[in-house]
Amino acid sequence: MSNIGSYEEKYKGFDWSFARKELGCKDSTPLNIGFYCSDRICQQGKGGKIAMIWEGYKGEVEKFTFDDLRIYSNNYAHLLKSFGIKERERVFIFMERVPDLYFSFLGILKMGGIVAPLFSAFGEESLLTRLEDGNASAIITIPKLIKKIRRIKDQLPQLKKIIIVTDDENFKSEEKETSFSAKKAKRVEKFDIFPGTFETPSVLHYTSGTTGKPKGALHVHSSIFAQYLTTKWCLDLKPDDIYWCTADPGWVTGTSYGIIGPWSLGITQVVLDSGFQVGKWYNLIQKHRITVWYSAPTAIRLLMKEGEEIVKKYDLSSLRHLCSVGEPLNAEAVTWSKKVYGLPFHDTYWQTETGAIVISNYPGMEVRPGSMGKPFPGIVATVLDSSYNPINKTGSAGLIALKPGWPSMFRNYWNNPATYDSKFKNGWYITGDRASIDKNGYFWFVGRDDDVINTAGHLVSPFEVESALLEHPAVAESAAIGKPDPINLEVVKVFVALKSGFEKSDDLELEIMNFIRKRLSPLAMPQEIEFVDSLPKTRSGKIMRRLLRAQERGEPIGDLSTLEND
Ligand code: WT7
Repeated sequence: MSNIGSYEEKYKGFDWSFARKELGCKDSTPLNIGFYCSDRICQQGKGGKIAMIWEGYKGEVEKFTFDDLRIYSNNYAHLLKSFGIKERERVFIFMERVPDLYFSFLGILKMGGIVAPLFSAFGEESLLTRLEDGNASAIITIPKLIKKIRRIKDQLPQLKKIIIVTDDENFKSEEKETSFSAKKAKRVEKFDIFPGTFETPSVLHYTSGTTGKPKGALHVHSSIFAQYLTTKWCLDLKPDDIYWCTADPGWVTGTSYGIIGPWSLGITQVVLDSGFQVGKWYNLIQKHRITVWYSAPTAIRLLMKEGEEIVKKYDLSSLRHLCSVGEPLNAEAVTWSKKVYGLPFHDTYWQTETGAIVISNYPGMEVRPGSMGKPFPGIVATVLDSSYNPINKTGSAGLIALKPGWPSMFRNYWNNPATYDSKFKNGWYITGDRASIDKNGYFWFVGRDDDVINTAGHLVSPFEVESALLEHPAVAESAAIGKPDPINLEVVKVFVALKSGFEKSDDLELEIMNFIRKRLSPLAMPQEIEFVDSLPKTRSGKIMRRLLRAQERGEPIGDLSTLEND
């Protein structure tokens, strides 16, 4: 029997107070995610239970109990306070998936700080934009990444401390830096956890839009109610499960479902500190007897590419429930996994802004391959026409919209309330994605409504790529689009018009690529440059990425009435 039981029954008459009650949280109780993910589990007598089985890229394994989580997060909370970091100040995490990433995440929350995770592959430009926007008070990092921070730290006057996680006593710290190891530090048995309210800010996740700089989606401590219950009902985690979320905490999946959800339920999870590699992944499942696995379509397509033979070399019989997020999960992937693992991947849909799953295929409910499933209890979802009115016609595509008010919904974009306000129309939150709803209430993803590129589940702003290109002296104008790709869904392709006096050549292409590589995160790097004489524009001068995208896909070009150079 699944945790959710009957979806229809749970959806009917649902109230979020249900999650609050399960967590033993009264309206007046001080709320802190850090407490609910460690201390509370220990108070329930599960302090000795394994919280994290960590495996490094060389295959080394370390295990940590919930009591370890409690103490090591206390150590971080105490350390930050001792440096004068106050509640609501932003502490950025810039680490690979080392154990201290997880301890410090909870530690920052415990002392009332706002935790802002960064992806370890970010280059200096990507880092600086986010650290400046978020007005970072402190950064927690590892020796391997410190160089990138040292190169930009002078541009961050607000920065008080850089904490470098290392056991090496000879590590040479520079100005503002401190080296630290939670395991070696004096154990802080008791820490006065910051007594937050439901609306106390918790996590700041940066995400890319079509225009402007990345936006920091701000979440609050009561997000835990949605993260707890969606983990329980969509991922179906039960006390004896060994759970594996493949996402990096640089992204919201890695925090909502790689930290908060599973640990608020007191579940043991596996963390792998390395990227995709087929043998490594199957071996991990076999070695740790993983039961529930949350991954992403690009990874599943890579596994499909590797074929069925390799699957037979491993014992994957421990697996019992599989879920996916981040991009459309194609019907073939669901059918394939059912055939090969004996289990279908369950698609789940949500965004950085929604903080938790909002549409999903539930265990026990019929999976319709290719569909994202149905709205989570407590979530009212529909599709709207271009005037933001609900389309009451089965099968017609429109904008996916959600009725605001669920606990894990973002509360603002950091320093950018105008963009936040623009996401709400006629009392709906507009996701920026398009879908249709069938007669049984299943949602079918159609595509994004904007120009944002989704490459392997990572959102890339065309604006960021184009801005980097425009800094090159030879580039007059540029446009970045998503080009369809069999594995990554889309890859970044750019069109470049050169300034007069410059000739296209392989050398120039290489030079431009090397130039932008220094400015962009590896995820945003174009796979292809096409030189063109000019770019199609609207009468108001906006580059029509839509047209370039349609041309690239061999699709009908659509309405050209606003095209300037037609
Ligand atoms: C965007 C959100 C949700 C955590 C990771 C991504 C796309 C997400 C699905 C899905 C089709 C999906 C949407 C969405 N997306 N899940 N199941 N099917 N598309 O968070 O970086 O904020 O990206 O990812 O376009 O808006 P994010």
